[in-house]
Amino acid sequence: MADFKSTIDSAFSFQGDSILIGTAMLNKEAVVNTPVRLPLNMVSRHGLIAGATGTGKTKTIQHFAESLSEKGVSVLLMDIKGDLSGIARPGVSNPKIDERVAKIGGEWKPKQFPVELMSISGEKGLRLRATVSEFGPLLLSKILELNDNQQGAVTVIFKFCDDHQMPLLDIKDFREVLRFITNEGKENIKEYGTVSTATAGVIMRKLLELEQQGGDIFFGEKSFDVNDLLRKDSNGQGFINIIRLCDIQDKPKLFSTFMLCLLAEIYKSFPEMGDKAAPKIAIFIDEAHLIFNDASKALMDQLEQVIRLIRSKGVGIYFCTQVPSDIPESVLSQLGSKFQHAMRAFTANDRKDIKLVAQNYPETEFYKTDSLITEMGIGEAMISVLNEKGIPAPLVHTLLSPPVTRMDILTTQEQDEIVNNSSIARSYNEEIDRNSAYEMLKNKIQPDSAPPVKTVEKPSKKVGEDGGLDISKRIAEVSKNPVVKQVARELTRGLMGMLFGKR
Ligand SMILES: Nc1ncnc2c1ncn2[C@@H]1O[C@H](COP(=O)(O)OP(=O)(O)O)[C@@H](O)[C@H]1O
Ligand SMILES: [Mg+2]
Repeated sequence: MADFKSTIDSAFSFQGDSILIGTAMLNKEAVVNTPVRLPLNMVSRHGLIAGATGTGKTKTIQHFAESLSEKGVSVLLMDIKGDLSGIARPGVSNPKIDERVAKIGGEWKPKQFPVELMSISGEKGLRLRATVSEFGPLLLSKILELNDNQQGAVTVIFKFCDDHQMPLLDIKDFREVLRFITNEGKENIKEYGTVSTATAGVIMRKLLELEQQGGDIFFGEKSFDVNDLLRKDSNGQGFINIIRLCDIQDKPKLFSTFMLCLLAEIYKSFPEMGDKAAPKIAIFIDEAHLIFNDASKALMDQLEQVIRLIRSKGVGIYFCTQVPSDIPESVLSQLGSKFQHAMRAFTANDRKDIKLVAQNYPETEFYKTDSLITEMGIGEAMISVLNEKGIPAPLVHTLLSPPVTRMDILTTQEQDEIVNNSSIARSYNEEIDRNSAYEMLKNKIQPDSAPPVKTVEKPSKKVGEDGGLDISKRIAEVSKNPVVKQVARELTRGLMGMLFGKR
């Protein structure tokens, strides 16, 4: 016992900053005041939070998020079940928490944290959106699961729009260009390549599918600036950004698309920091199997690549799921910290999973890992983290710290309060339908009946003798407008090309 405590004490005493996870346990009893910690410089090595339903995974995320925010690290929570919003309000003590805290040591002070509620659908919160242009041809093709030939057509369309400074903001824009180049614009596209009617038809159908999954809500302006995830409050605490995804469970494709887009955007926007620094942000993905279940091989490869690269940008990603085998091996092998809550052995398959999990943990003289995995209590976990030098710390059965915020959801009124008090939500939630490819092409076809547009002045003289059918002239006129110019520049600023173009 003395041996155990001194082993843990020395393994988890770090020179740099760290966050407290809980207190070590031996023979299923808490060893009072034997802190298990995660060094801050290892947060960006990613992690896994696994365990059966009701074993405490979400509370682990909640405590983790609170501790990071306190250290000035921002947090992004993918809240699928909607049970993390309580972090915006102080917790209420109860005898169970008091008992837990007495074993862990230290004091428990109820507290609330700065929270921004976000949504990619109709839920309350700041609306996260991205333009089709920002997505770029490769990623868009991947989501639509297009073959090489169809992807070629999409690339042609992007290039065409790029050259003619036609911003592709939403799906409506893309569809209109697709329609245009297979009809009256056939000649205009010739120098770029051919897009057959059949190919256009397939793409059109896939776009429709995406729209039915809610993809049209996600595409458009104002596109989200990922640097807004890194805000701090006046006390220097990192914001906890909660993306409410309660209505996305039956839309796995939209979820994985969104995740990939967000990660790619973060990768593109954040500066390189090297491996050693404190993290900028930690991202927690609850019910992570949803991302992987329906993802195509191509999407998976991209995800795996982003996860590998994003580490050096100071970004840690934590996957939360019931069994580790929900996560593909290629991703699993990149996860530095593991929080394994209890697993349940109902079926032969379960027992196989448990055996595998136990085998994957480091050898330990203190525990019988495979039996302990099924016997741990709620709010306990087998913890395997990296020490501050990046070497695995000993596997330790841990009684986990309780959250200091509310362990329950917010009321509708409380949610409204947060959204209304947000300093940035309003600017993102305004509806903008700026002049883009759709309007530009529509205008061209009916120059006289087209409504005067908001941001682009109508050309003073009639365009072309042929009643406006000369697209190059028309576009030249429109693109003199500074707003359009600016969008066109955005259009070419990488389009995730640096990440996806190389492959
Ligand atoms: N670290 C903890 N501290 C205090 N209570 C906890 C802790 N972890 C779990 N619990 C208790 O267990 C319940 C279920 O935990 P939860 O995190 O929702 O499980 P899961 O996400 O694995 O389904 C919580 O409502 C809470 O009462
Ligand atoms: Mg949960």
